[in-house]
Amino acid sequence: MPSKPAILPSILSADFGAAKPDILDALAHCRASKVGGDVIHVDVMDGHLVPNISFGPPVIAKLRAALPAIFFDVHLMIDEPVRYAEAHRKAGADNITFHVEAPEVRSDVIGACKAIRATGAQVGITLKPGTPIDRVMPALEHVDLVLVMSVEPGFGGQKFMADQLAKCRTIKPLLRPNQVLEIDGGINADTIGQARAAGVDWFVVGSALFDANDRHAASSAMASAIL
Ligand code: DX5
Ligand code: ZN
Repeated sequence: MPSKPAILPSILSADFGAAKPDILDALAHCRASKVGGDVIHVDVMDGHLVPNISFGPPVIAKLRAALPAIFFDVHLMIDEPVRYAEAHRKAGADNITFHVEAPEVRSDVIGACKAIRATGAQVGITLKPGTPIDRVMPALEHVDLVLVMSVEPGFGGQKFMADQLAKCRTIKPLLRPNQVLEIDGGINADTIGQARAAGVDWFVVGSALFDANDRHAASSAMASAIL
């Protein structure tokens, strides 16, 4: 998995009436700013683990067919990530990130990592802002990616929670060079530099890229804050 700094467009904020050109445009701006361009972030929500519903494997499979060379970083905000891991892998997920709060996995987080890896996907682990970082520690050696949520998961366009950066500073020194530290929520040109300073490699960006009036200006301002 690539670990140099990258911005991952979060397609939750894409125009799903014209998904392929909109996502390709966002990726092209990241590539032009030399911060990513090969990876998208895909948010799956079930209305139980988080208070919103997005989309699932059938939609991801269509996106996979439209974007065959792009790495799909899939963030499962669902109660049963193991039950649905294979379906997401088959739909095109390259990495599958699950929440330690998910009822299905919270008593056996390492077992969940192994079950997801058995699908052939890479494995990510994440936690909500109110969950202590200790909850991911026992599973660190079993994951490819640790995602720190810097908003309450469920919606794009929320305010960055700077207090979550302490988790990044704790985790980063414990990761191997090939393990990725990712942050998700409220990342924009004003907040991305703090996250980089806390050790983050991958920056999920939804509204600050897709909703920008000038995507070139948005991506280059974020790039200049982290490169
Ligand atoms: C929130 C999602 C995010 C969301 C981020 O639950 O996990 O990926 O798209 O959106 P912004 O960048 O607008 O905070
Ligand atoms: Zn996400």
